Amino acid sequence: MEETFDVKLVENEKYYSPPAGYREEAWTKDYETAYADFLKDPDGFWERVAKELDWFRLWDKVKEWNYPYAKWFVNAKLNITHNCLDRHVKSDRKNKVALMWKAETGEERMYTYWRLYRDVMRFANGLKKLGLKKGDRVCIYMPLVPEQIIAMLACARIGVVHSVVFGGFGANALNMRINDAQAKVVITADYTIRRGKNIPLKTIVEEAVVGSPSIEKIVVLSRKSETPVDLMKEIEVDFYGIMEGVDSYCAPEEMDAEDPLFILYTSGSTGTPKGIVHTCGGYMVGTYYTTKHVFDLKDKDRFWCTADTGWITGHSYVVYGPLAVGATVFMGEVVPDYPDPGCFWKLVEDYGITIFYTAPTAIRMFMKLGEEWPKKYDLSSLRILGSVGEPLNPEAFEWYYKNIGASRCPVVDTWWQTETGMHMITTMIGEKMRPGFAGKAVPGVKVDVVDKDGKPVPIGTGGLLVIQEPWPSMLRTVYGNDARYRQYWETVEGNYSAGDLAVKGKDGYIMVIGRSDDIIIVSGHNIGTAEVESALVSHQAVAEAAVIGKPDDMKGNSIKAFVILRVGNTPSEKLTSDLIYHVRMTLGPIAIPSEIEFVDKLPKTRSGKIMRRVLKAREMGLDPGDISTLEE
Ligand code: WTA
Repeated sequence: MEETFDVKLVENEKYYSPPAGYREEAWTKDYETAYADFLKDPDGFWERVAKELDWFRLWDKVKEWNYPYAKWFVNAKLNITHNCLDRHVKSDRKNKVALMWKAETGEERMYTYWRLYRDVMRFANGLKKLGLKKGDRVCIYMPLVPEQIIAMLACARIGVVHSVVFGGFGANALNMRINDAQAKVVITADYTIRRGKNIPLKTIVEEAVVGSPSIEKIVVLSRKSETPVDLMKEIEVDFYGIMEGVDSYCAPEEMDAEDPLFILYTSGSTGTPKGIVHTCGGYMVGTYYTTKHVFDLKDKDRFWCTADTGWITGHSYVVYGPLAVGATVFMGEVVPDYPDPGCFWKLVEDYGITIFYTAPTAIRMFMKLGEEWPKKYDLSSLRILGSVGEPLNPEAFEWYYKNIGASRCPVVDTWWQTETGMHMITTMIGEKMRPGFAGKAVPGVKVDVVDKDGKPVPIGTGGLLVIQEPWPSMLRTVYGNDARYRQYWETVEGNYSAGDLAVKGKDGYIMVIGRSDDIIIVSGHNIGTAEVESALVSHQAVAEAAVIGKPDDMKGNSIKAFVILRVGNTPSEKLTSDLIYHVRMTLGPIAIPSEIEFVDKLPKTRSGKIMRRVLKAREMGLDPGDISTLEE
């Protein structure tokens, strides 16, 4: 890890008062009181939240902490889909709209809770027919369509562990994830639609499963097209085909609170992604609570989280959190600037979106496109704005607050991770907002900024962001690599290390600066330097590669690669584009370098480790810091 502790903060004293009326109406009316309540009795706090949900059997104990392993809601039994569906179907929400979906093609669909419940149960019975049972793993590689949510919930219904892989990943990345989880089934679609083009998914799956002996079946959603998709009869089955002739009821599998709900792969500092494991009980309670309190979600809200379901933000705040609360969710198979830069604002107007949650990279893109686009639409339905994925810089905060929120909507900048499952730091509705600062610990969790020895840093100083106590929706392990899990708790003894650098400002507000490890956040997507490096090195012309993140106004960071060629190869534009194509095919379009520099040497430690920090400092014209370990 390459920590820097010399970050000094120039305090900007700018605060925004919360707009009138929000505090009084909020689920968490007073942050200080809520936080004090939590500190007085942490288990009691979470127990009260958990009791708002349905359980088949209650817990014997709220929490069992056996450092670094935690169990939450010990011996409790539940099914998360019972809380996301059955609970609402039995109430006044039966005919409430659960899901509104719109594609850039103009196609539109609505699901009430009743319809979603029925489709999930039929698809779950279809999965059972394929021989799947509790504990099996299924990989979901789909576009942002309602069937993706149906597939996730159907897995959860029968206790099958899903591993959703973002549709922007390439065959190699998909293959690695299928094999690591030993998935038995892949659920996919013939194609995804992006900027007017059909991008095939099924063919990527077919390439990825060569060399995946665990795969028994591929379930294919055939999207409306003139030419229906050809299925390979031996292994491929139709998404709606498996729902034919099954029972319309599927009893929810009784899950232990600590049974795994899903695996979600995230980039690591090695070449292999980490399979983050979340469990049924704690994850449900954590996402339910934060959806309700951080977004202050009420029954009349229409909630749009623009994230893809293939990321944790989609899992927690498109699917499980909002459905557990009983919200109306909007989901769009859309991009922010196609067919024109006003399309998101048109959707906000058309669907009466009240809570809008997006990423700083999108906000910066909207800024660049200009305020005339949002001005064309009626955005008065909006009442809360959210941000996630990377630091929301003050300029972007102010633009968002003024131009989208008309200076009357609170902005919640939420800091959290795949590993945390739920929001950890934010400025709760009704509290003063500080642009540039995510805020404070959400009631229910304890965070701090510390030095290498775990000592809290003074106000105005930088350090490592840590979480000091277990929380319900924390990861329980890294799939098949528990040693990697323990590392999270061993880097700073007794604390969970987030891998982020942060600064504590006045009044306890926390500013998250960026990663302290070898992960680059490009447009909000986590990319491991090692993953891109191994993709480059797998090209026959490349001997060695080093990858760094370079600050980028729009994307937050962009990827720059330094490449040493094998003897017999010479740098050329053609080779540069070959390498970019190669990374695109192996890892997917999200991981392609925007710059490749051919070099003869890379800075290395005497033990042979590439010093990316030195490359980065040189690139940015900065002092590389301590280079005493640099090889001559
Ligand atoms: C970064 C996404 C600053 C951070 C939910 C973290 C943020 C990583 C913020 C996790 C924020 C996320 N301010 N940085 N509000 N939110 N990050 O696993 O570096 O895809 O460690 O989870 O994103 O990314 P992940």
